[in-house]
Amino acid sequence: MAFSSFVCLFLVGFLVFAGKLLAEMPDSDDEVPLEMEKKELLGIFEVMGALLEDSDWPLEHPQPCTETQWPGVQCEIGDEDPPMFHVTKIHIGPDILTPPCKSSATLSESLLKLPYLKTLSIFSCFSTSQVTLSPKLFGALSSLEHLALVSNPTLSGEIPSSLAQISSLRVLTLSQNNLQGKVPSKIGALVSLEQLDLSYNNLSGQIPEEIGGLDSLTILDLSQNVLEGQLPSSFGQLQLLQKIDLSSNRLGGMLPPDIGKLNRLVLLDLSHNLINGPIPETLSGLQHLEYMVADSNPIKTEVPNFVGKLMNLKTLSFSECGLIGPLPNFLSSLKNLTALSLSNNSLTGTVRPNLGTLPSLDLLNLSNNQLSGELTLPEDFIERLGKRLVLRGNNGLCTSNPLNKKENISSHVIAPLCLNPRGPRDDQTLAGEHPTESERVKPLDQDPVQESSSTGSSWSHVKLNSFGFVFCLLSMLL
Ligand SMILES: *[C@@H]1O[C@H](CO)[C@@H](O)[C@H](O)[C@H]1NC(C)=O
Ligand SMILES: *[C@@H]1O[C@H](CO)[C@@H](O)[C@H](O)[C@H]1NC(C)=O
Ligand SMILES: *[C@@H]1O[C@H](CO)[C@@H](O)[C@H](O)[C@H]1NC(C)=O
Ligand SMILES: *[C@@H]1O[C@H](CO)[C@@H](O)[C@H](O)[C@H]1NC(C)=O
Ligand SMILES: *[C@@H]1O[C@H](CO)[C@@H](O)[C@H](O)[C@H]1NC(C)=O
Repeated sequence: MAFSSFVCLFLVGFLVFAGKLLAEMPDSDDEVPLEMEKKELLGIFEVMGALLEDSDWPLEHPQPCTETQWPGVQCEIGDEDPPMFHVTKIHIGPDILTPPCKSSATLSESLLKLPYLKTLSIFSCFSTSQVTLSPKLFGALSSLEHLALVSNPTLSGEIPSSLAQISSLRVLTLSQNNLQGKVPSKIGALVSLEQLDLSYNNLSGQIPEEIGGLDSLTILDLSQNVLEGQLPSSFGQLQLLQKIDLSSNRLGGMLPPDIGKLNRLVLLDLSHNLINGPIPETLSGLQHLEYMVADSNPIKTEVPNFVGKLMNLKTLSFSECGLIGPLPNFLSSLKNLTALSLSNNSLTGTVRPNLGTLPSLDLLNLSNNQLSGELTLPEDFIERLGKRLVLRGNNGLCTSNPLNKKENISSHVIAPLCLNPRGPRDDQTLAGEHPTESERVKPLDQDPVQESSSTGSSWSHVKLNSFGFVFCLLSMLL
């Protein structure tokens, strides 16, 4: 929308400008009308010259805003009299037909000659020579609204505090560079900032308490850094937040209860950190939460109760969190759930069949736990999920209903036949023996209908019982 309104603005502006040109035509036949201030024109030449390989390119394109318009450069007409063009956007990236960035590409201080610049975005440009963010440079770009420096492997050094002086900034994306040091605490002064993405860098230290000053923030992505310490409780002030991704850092301690105040939050990804349990029950306040991902954190509690109150949850993922206790009943009341991953925990007890009645559930991964008992999930559910139903690594699980009689039901589901069809007998099920895949499949190849019907079942029964007997014997011997 912003783009189309810009194009519209540009066209209207251009027509006005062209109209003026035509009106002035008669008396200025060979005089080229001034299209930009000299200083600004020089500025854009110098900025592009410092970035791009082909130094002749700007010379071959003397008018960046009009006749020889540059790809990646956008201009708007100012409201001065006579009106002039101003460079408002520079975008360099693989998607733009400019010459490639040169190996010695840098950010020229001539950017300061472009006082109308609203968008600066440079993708995949700095990859050989070291480039840093000059404090002098960024503090002074006072009309900047959108700054994106992304995928620049040699963009290193610290994020300058002076960035916090650009009070008009709405989007700040510095992801996939090699930035180091701390997230500057002054950043909290950016009250217009809506999106902050510092992901995939080498940022360290704690997330500053001052982050709570980012009143307009809707998206926060600090993932894939080496941030540590506790989350500041000032997070609770970021009332407009919809998405928080803090995954793959070294954040630790307990979550501040105030996080539960973020009642517009849709996504919370805390995976691959060192966050301890218990997770505060105040998180039941996250009434719009759809994606809760906390894989690989030392939480070590039961599945938290607040989860059962998040009725809009679509994805719930707590793999490798040291969870203990049973699969709680409330999981089957989360009707919008499409993915439930609780693998690599220490969950015990049975898998209740009502999990299989969740209408949208399309991934159920309970692998590598200590679940036990007879698997009684509805057959249509098992068929629907196929390989997305993962139960392996639960040695106490068994089935009296051979699930793999249908060829395309995932081998992940294969649980051994329960010896006692009425329930588990813990260690005495075949599962306890870690049978190889082929051994497991064999007894299940029997047609279940024949097996359980009274006619013609005696042979398979004998075979089955002797099979079980041999295993019991083996297990006693071992
Ligand atoms: C990340 O920063 C630390 C210092 O904070 C430094 O020792 C390390 O080499 C950096 N890693 C990379 C990949 O640059
Ligand atoms: C579930 O999803 C539907 C459709 O996406 C939505 O209308 C509804 O509010 C969601 N929440 C619950 C509790 O059903
Ligand atoms: C299930 O979880 C295990 C262990 O975390 C993982 O290796 C596997 O990829 C998962 N499978 C699916 C289909 O999600
Ligand atoms: C889960 O545990 C298995 C076996 O211990 C391990 O190979 C796998 O990497 C783990 N996966 C995750 C996602 O934790
Ligand atoms: C299962 O396999 C049969 C035949 O092999 C096929 O017709 C059917 O579509 C498959 N079902 C699924 C859910 O893949």
